[in-house]
Amino acid sequence: MIKRYTPVALGLLLALSAGTAVAADKPYAPSNVTTTAQGELTTTQWQDPKRCKSCHPVQFEGWQGSMHSIAFIDPVFQAEWALGEKETNGATRNLCAGCHTPVGTITQTVSFDPSKGKHGGFETEGMAATGVSCDTCHTVSAHTMLDTPMLEHGNASIELTPGAKRGPLADSKSPMHKTVYSELHGKSEFCANCHNVFHPGSNFPIERTYDEWKYSPYAQNGVQCQDCHMVPVEVAIRVADEMKPVKELENHGLSGKAARSGKVVRDVVHNHSFVGGNAVIAPLLGVEGGEAHSAEAIKRLQSAASISTKVENGIGDLRTLHVTVHNNRAGHALPTSLTFIRQLWLEVVVRDANGNELLRSGTINADNELPEGTVIFQNKAVNANGEGPQHKPWEVYSFSEQNTIPPKGSRTANFAFNLPEGMAYSVETRLNYRSFSQGAATLLVGEKVRVPFVEMATEITSYNGAGDVVSTTTDVKAGLQPAK
Ligand code: HEC
Ligand code: HEC
Ligand code: HEC
Ligand code: HEC
Ligand code: HEC
Repeated sequence: MIKRYTPVALGLLLALSAGTAVAADKPYAPSNVTTTAQGELTTTQWQDPKRCKSCHPVQFEGWQGSMHSIAFIDPVFQAEWALGEKETNGATRNLCAGCHTPVGTITQTVSFDPSKGKHGGFETEGMAATGVSCDTCHTVSAHTMLDTPMLEHGNASIELTPGAKRGPLADSKSPMHKTVYSELHGKSEFCANCHNVFHPGSNFPIERTYDEWKYSPYAQNGVQCQDCHMVPVEVAIRVADEMKPVKELENHGLSGKAARSGKVVRDVVHNHSFVGGNAVIAPLLGVEGGEAHSAEAIKRLQSAASISTKVENGIGDLRTLHVTVHNNRAGHALPTSLTFIRQLWLEVVVRDANGNELLRSGTINADNELPEGTVIFQNKAVNANGEGPQHKPWEVYSFSEQNTIPPKGSRTANFAFNLPEGMAYSVETRLNYRSFSQGAATLLVGEKVRVPFVEMATEITSYNGAGDVVSTTTDVKAGLQPAK
């Protein structure tokens, strides 16, 4: 029998919808994670990533320094988890752990002591501290979607069976471990179990990357999460532009051996870098491979979107600037997942030929915050009383505004300015991204951490006195832009 745990104060999480009960087969409720392993469970039943390194160097190098590798020790995560621990009387313990350390959850080895712990108060044992690691993913034996309240993937709807390594190769043999073919591992539904987060009380979808993907042209064309996030960014760019899975690209350059001693040359070996938009946390922690992942994240962000602009004449000297942002290469909304925390915004400056500013919007102020009136592409979260903005996942009841950019879609923002008759001028537009506001960083990890941003896309256009375009450039600034 699997041990059954009843979380204290689950009522707090469930208070929002009295009708919802936790299914009896949820041993780690409110998380949906389960295991087939019986009896006393220990973290040693799963192996440390270091044990895979010598035979699977490509996969190890990619994974090391990824957000998956630091999913448990991430200080921003731990700080928010600690807040949840206090505010919900421990009800968020299993919920958050289910995705950020599935093995720690199953073995119930997560402890909390705010005065201890190197990362923010939570500790666990052995390989469970390696977050979402090799043996976590490769012992996923099924999804438990049919047991979730909405019959959807989410909140760690995975079942772990320690032992054999499950993966995409139907005919693989290893001297080290049993192998089992798993169709699930080749599909977005595998990722969906953790990349859909819903409130366990109201079932409100707080993060829905998988759902955004599912109703996108990528899903219609068979392009999976793996095709963009388990290959180098250059290859992912081709995937998005040609709208084809990696295996259908000509000369993708990814074939090789899946293991050092592998007998067969495989068509695609996945680099396992799982690069998204986070260029800050891994270097901050100083983990090995962190800088390389940060550089890849910047490249990924700078490949995702483009800007186009148009100036329209109004009455007298009134002009309207239309700025359209195109989501060219993200397989989901831009931004995705923590859409109520991530900041994606427009910075716009219009100057006349003498250098006088006619318009300025979205320039970070001296407090490293965005000024009032900035155009931000994000969702605004509110609590059950309609109050917002909310940043704590357990408080999120709904979104009062939704303004992310759909996959292969666009959004347009309008700005007004006055242009003196016959004056030449220039329009500078930038699309910027940062993982969180300075306020959120200060609250969670202290103001010593100053949040930098990435310039994702730029357009600088000069107009002559007759209003004709003289020149346009789209070069972006390389690297992270320093914080104020
Ligand atoms: C987040 C989950 C996840 C983690 C963490 C992970 N893998 Fe994988 N791995 C996958 C998926 C999914 C595939 C199949 C991709 C496909 O076929 O589309 C895969 C494929 C593989 C393969 C088959 C060959 C290949 O590259 O396609 C090997 C071997 C492998 N992984 C080893 C590892 C090792 C070793 C680690 C740790 C260093 C690791 N994996 C970490 C999800 C993961
Ligand atoms: C269903 C799986 C799942 C659950 C449950 C979950 N998370 Fe996460 N969490 C994620 C994923 C996936 C990301 C990465 C999203 C991204 O970067 O866009 C993430 C990212 C985060 C981040 C951002 C970290 C950073 O460095 O930017 C914080 C903070 C966080 N989670 C806190 C929590 C807390 C607190 C809980 C519990 C109340 C929780 N999460 C529950 C999957 C989950
Ligand atoms: C002594 C070498 C060795 C070690 C250590 C090792 N593997 Fe493997 N592994 C192999 C070989 C060889 C294959 C077969 C490769 C092939 O078929 O192309 C393989 C295949 C795999 C596959 C593919 C299974 C499938 O059916 O798709 C996965 C996943 C995998 N290993 C995960 C791991 C993980 C996780 C670890 C560490 C816990 C690990 N391996 C440790 C040698 C090793
Ligand atoms: C067991 C749960 C789990 C599974 C399965 C999983 N992830 Fe994740 N993933 C996470 C968590 C948790 C984080 C966030 C870690 C953090 O920020 O602290 C994350 C982070 C990421 C990020 C980095 C986001 C950023 O902001 O840079 C990407 C990209 C990603 N995952 C892609 C995938 C893909 C693709 C798959 C499927 C092949 C997958 N994940 C499967 C839990 C999971
Ligand atoms: C066509 C390529 C493509 C596909 C398919 C794709 N992504 Fe992404 N993903 C991107 C790009 C580009 C970014 C960077 C821009 C952004 O942050 O949205 C990104 C970012 C992310 C992030 C970080 C978001 C943030 O801003 O914090 C996560 C998490 C993620 N993807 C997970 C997934 C999952 C899960 C799937 C499948 C359901 C998936 N992606 C499918 C291209 C893709």
